Amino acid sequence: MLETHQLASGYGKMTILREVGIRVGDGEVVAIVGANGAGKTTLVRTICGLIAPSAGKIVKNGVDLTQLPTHKRMRHGIAVVLENRRLWGELTVRENLRLAEVNARSASSSRITFEDTAKLFPVIAERHASPVELLSGGEQQMVAIARALLMQPDLLIMDEPSTGLAPKIVKDILRVLGGLRERGISLLLVEQNVALVSEIADRGYVMSVGRIVHTVGPGEWAGFLADEKLVKAYLGG
Ligand SMILES: Nc1ncnc2c1ncn2[C@@H]1O[C@H](COP(=O)(O)OP(=O)(O)OP(=O)(O)O)[C@@H](O)[C@H]1O
Ligand SMILES: [Mg+2]
Repeated sequence: MLETHQLASGYGKMTILREVGIRVGDGEVVAIVGANGAGKTTLVRTICGLIAPSAGKIVKNGVDLTQLPTHKRMRHGIAVVLENRRLWGELTVRENLRLAEVNARSASSSRITFEDTAKLFPVIAERHASPVELLSGGEQQMVAIARALLMQPDLLIMDEPSTGLAPKIVKDILRVLGGLRERGISLLLVEQNVALVSEIADRGYVMSVGRIVHTVGPGEWAGFLADEKLVKAYLGG
């Protein structure tokens, strides 16, 4: 599915990511965790083409995406929900979602329809006619996820989906995200809340100062969370 090899990137002359190698398999939920400033968002931006890497490769389904612009990476099935969601505030929920449909890549096997998104997020279905800027943060996050899904990705990348949201909304969102694998969609989840991540992620990578410093394998989340030394060193907890 997705692999990065020896990825390096940063801002101007400042290198942030160094030798980052991660892998997301078909239908897998993989998490990236790490303290503030570890480089998680920089990794997301580099994978979706908003920052050009200075070294290394990004490969998806055997295709080298490293030199492709963002919109072409979307054509290869990557969709992303960035930290600030970037919705069209003045447009209604329905208009935001329809715009995504227009831009979607051609249908994949398990196509997500407009009606599906209403079933996944009944709360936003009730607000289809509202301008997005009038919605709560949690509702906007749901619209952002629905919009990303309508691009028909097979890999959804999310940067800190739980930030600023009430626990109940986070639970609703997690339930939807956890169900995506059944539709053949893999998930790369950046999240500081490790307890939350451990509920849905199969595996994880721990980032610190721009490097992958630890991996969490299947069934290893509880052990990782119980390891005070590791958690303190890498998550500042
Ligand atoms: N546009 C930018 N220009 C220069 N430096 C930046 C820029 N964006 C981020 N950085 C720096 O890159 C480093 C990694 O930041 P990044 O946002 O990737 O971390 P993060 O792990 O996502 O942190 P957080 O958990 O706070 O979101 C930080 O030292 C940050 O100051
Ligand atoms: Mg970040």
